[in-house]
Amino acid sequence: MTPTVALSAETQSFLNQPMRNLIDGDFTAGRGEGLAVVDPATENTIAEFPAAGADDVADAVAAARTAFDDGRWRSLPPARKEKVLHELGELMERDLQQLSELDTLDNGMPLAFAQYAVGFAIDTLRYYAGWPTKIEGTLNPVPGEYFSYSSREPVGVCAGITPWNAPVSVAINKVVPALACGNTVVLKPAEQTPLSAVRLAELCVEAGIPPGVVNVVHGDGPTVGSALVSHPDVDKISFTGSTATGRLIQVKAAETMKRVTLELGGKSPNIVCADADLDAATGGSLMAAFANSGQVCYAGTRLFVERSIHDEFVQRLVAASGAMTVGGGFDPASQLGPLVSAEQLDRVRSYIKIGVDEGAELVAGGERIGETGYFVAPTIFANVSNSMRIAREEIFGPVVSVIPFDDEEEALRLANDSEYGLGAGVWTRDVSRAHRLAAGIRSGIVWVNTYGDLMPSFPFGGYKQSGYGREFGSASIDTYTETKSVLLRL
Ligand code: NAI
Ligand code: MG
Repeated sequence: MTPTVALSAETQSFLNQPMRNLIDGDFTAGRGEGLAVVDPATENTIAEFPAAGADDVADAVAAARTAFDDGRWRSLPPARKEKVLHELGELMERDLQQLSELDTLDNGMPLAFAQYAVGFAIDTLRYYAGWPTKIEGTLNPVPGEYFSYSSREPVGVCAGITPWNAPVSVAINKVVPALACGNTVVLKPAEQTPLSAVRLAELCVEAGIPPGVVNVVHGDGPTVGSALVSHPDVDKISFTGSTATGRLIQVKAAETMKRVTLELGGKSPNIVCADADLDAATGGSLMAAFANSGQVCYAGTRLFVERSIHDEFVQRLVAASGAMTVGGGFDPASQLGPLVSAEQLDRVRSYIKIGVDEGAELVAGGERIGETGYFVAPTIFANVSNSMRIAREEIFGPVVSVIPFDDEEEALRLANDSEYGLGAGVWTRDVSRAHRLAAGIRSGIVWVNTYGDLMPSFPFGGYKQSGYGREFGSASIDTYTETKSVLLRL
């Protein structure tokens, strides 16, 4: 598996610089442990640099605190904030190829997917860049001897802690809505995929975001992430990642009563009814499960198929998955890249073994591909029971469990029999059935006759142990502001 590496000159020269933190407008070398960044397609080390230490986190939070308190960002006229944010969008568009190459190099994702994800991040940025002039308050109905209004104020210092599966888009999703509301930010990217955040930090400076308003500290969760979560001067944590880490963060954040939003794991149901357009449902269900090699929080990993079409549909899935090309992200033919790390490879392989041991029928994939790079073939288990571990636990790899159902009531009961509730899919031509299923599924989003499309204008987030709080749309404005009510006696 030799990936075709075609890095642009800009990316190559970027990689020759030292990777640094951004603290109070300065790029500084970390004072913590060494961090090695590995290309998951080749297992080569792409970059090595010192992570942030406790002093760096303290300095970043102090810078964000001062920048918030002195109003250098919050007090800028709303239209000025919009101009600066739009400038960042222009720079990201200019550097779209470079940002995409960095995410492909770091995470392994196919370059076309990285380009799509960076494009989505730019759309999200532009959506939020328009908000500063539109965040309104209310005039409250009170008796005539009073006058009352409520206004929205920024929360303060917001820490964003992000995972490795979509580095640019999740980072933008933490930083830009917070800035649109007047907050200051400390971003901690995942230690597996820091490169694009180093570049985004440079673009923030180039766009004219004042020093201390956006800070970026690199390092692992137990050292750098947890220092942010326990720091008394951080007012809010926005986290995307595993449910286990989200739980730790919520407990720790309670000590200083931080506002917390958590976008966590999933085991999302994808329901294919017998009346569906089966060509569309086949391709859509495979991408629901295998896009980004299954490393997607809302991946449709429990594929419920109506029994009358079950065998035929499994045959279609097996044929179509067998035709998928697995390879390095820089090879234009690749549809699935490698998993992000050796840890993920071990985890996914161990779940495939668990599925076989549990008695599920392995009908496609199941193997590592090659000996270098963390590649796994798209894997399909048929005749899975919803009680098996492979149907209950988040695997985060290209593994889908096909589970038959007899009627709508059973489909809903099984779909909702999960500790998670993030995404869901429904494939049917019957519009009434589509709405009944959408209403009955306990999850933050339901896609009908499509899967996985996100847009900046509608809220996204989890029910149950998939987290709480919503991102995108006006929901992010709610979570990055406090509401203040003022009452005057006339
Ligand atoms: P993780 O949830 O532990 O890491 C995500 C982010 O949290 C990283 O930036 C990490 O440094 C940080 N972090 C870790 N421990 C922390 C702590 N105690 N305090 C503050 N920040 C902390 O995910 P990890 O370990 O990379 O992957 C483990 C599993 O989690 C994966 O196999 C996958 O199943 C799941 N996962 C789910 C994601 C999702 O979006 N649903 C994203 C990433 C991982
Ligand atoms: Mg972890």
